[in-house]
Amino acid sequence: MTFLELKDLRIHFPSDDGLVKSVDGLSFRLERGKTLGIVGESGSGKSVTSLGILGLHKGGRAKISGEIWLDGEELVSASAEHVRTLRGKKMAMIFQDPLSAMHPFYTVGAQIMEAYRIHHDVSKKVARKHAIEMLDRVGIPQPDRRVDSHPHEFSGGMRQRAMIAMALSCDPELLIADEPTTALDVTVQAQILDLMRDLQRDFNAALIIITHDLGVVAELSDDILVMYAGKAIEYGTAEDIFERPEHPYTWGLLGSMPRLDRERTERLLPIKGSPPSLINVPSGCAFHPRCVYADRTGGRSTSDVPELLESEGGHLVRCHLSRDVRRAVWENEIKPNLEAS
Ligand SMILES: Nc1ncnc2c1ncn2[C@@H]1O[C@H](COP(=O)(O)OP(=O)(O)O)[C@@H](O)[C@H]1O
Ligand code: SF4
Ligand SMILES: [Mg+2]
Repeated sequence: MTFLELKDLRIHFPSDDGLVKSVDGLSFRLERGKTLGIVGESGSGKSVTSLGILGLHKGGRAKISGEIWLDGEELVSASAEHVRTLRGKKMAMIFQDPLSAMHPFYTVGAQIMEAYRIHHDVSKKVARKHAIEMLDRVGIPQPDRRVDSHPHEFSGGMRQRAMIAMALSCDPELLIADEPTTALDVTVQAQILDLMRDLQRDFNAALIIITHDLGVVAELSDDILVMYAGKAIEYGTAEDIFERPEHPYTWGLLGSMPRLDRERTERLLPIKGSPPSLINVPSGCAFHPRCVYADRTGGRSTSDVPELLESEGGHLVRCHLSRDVRRAVWENEIKPNLEAS
C-alpha cells in the first residue's frame, strides 16, 4: 500500500470573478522515507495542495474533489474533526514564515510542549525535556536556555529551526515543507536543507518539499513534480528532471534556476510572460501563450489540453510534442545552451 496517494485532486474556490481552479486534477504517490519536490512558479497551486492534504480547506469555501489516501485512509471524505486529529501526530507542516505559524506571546518551548502534549499524555516536566531535546536536535545552541525565549528573540534561521522542531515534536509520518528556506539567505538556506535531509533520514518520514526554485530540491528529492496552473506538467525522478527533462516549462525553470556561484537574485533566462489566470485558464495547453514550441504541434497546443503521459519508466510529461522531438530539442538546443551560460 502506498503511504500517500493523491488521485485527481481538485480544489476550486468560487469567487466574484468566477471559479479559481487552484488545483485541477493532481495525482501522485509518495512512500515513507522518500522525498518529493513540488516545483512551480508562484500561483501554480503548490500551497493550496499542501493545505488540502492537511485538511485545512475543509469547512471553507473550497470545492474539493478527488481522493487523498494517507496510510490507508481517505481524507477528502473524512470529517474535518478526524483530519484534525491526524495533524501534528500523523502529518505536520513547516511554513515559509515561522512568525506567522508561531504565537508571538508564548515562548518557543511552550509552543513545542503544547504541540507535544496534544498527542501525548505527559507531565509538563516531561514535555519540557522533550522540547529541549528537539531544539538540540535541530541545532539550536544552548537549548536549555533558548527553550524559554520568544520567537522574536530568534534569528530567521533559528526560528525556522524551531518551527522544524515544533513540526517534528510529535514524530509525524508525513512532513510537508512549504518554501521552507525562501525567506533565508543562501548560507542559512543550505544549513536548513542539510538539516532536513538528516532529519528525514532519522525519522523515516515521507517528506514533501514545495518550492519555486528547482535548485532547492535538486539534492534532496527522490522524485520531482513540476506544477503549472494547478496541474502536473512533468513528473519523474530527480535524474529524469535534471538529466532528461522533456517539458518546455521545465526547461524554462532549469534556465531560470539561480546558481550558487552567482548572486541569488540573478536569473539566467527568466521564463517570458507571467503565470496564467486560474479563472480563465488558456485553452489547450495552459502554457501555450508562453511556449516558443507551441507552433510546432499543428495547432493542438491551443485547442487540446494535453494529457500527462508516460515517456519512459515512470517519467510523465504533459505536452503535445512527440517524445522524439522533445528529446531532440533538449539534447540539441536547450542543454548546450544551459551548459554554455
Ligand atoms: N482561499 C483562497 N481563495 C481563493 N483563491 C485562492 C485561495 N487560496 C489560494 N487561492 C488562489 O489559488 C492560486 C494558487 O495559490 P497557491 O497554491 O498559494 O500558489 P503557490 O504555488 O504560489 O503556492 C492563486 O491564484 C491564489 O490566488
Ligand atoms: S503542449 Fe504545446 S504549448 Fe504546451 S508545452 Fe507542449 S509545445 Fe508548449
Ligand atoms: Mg505558496
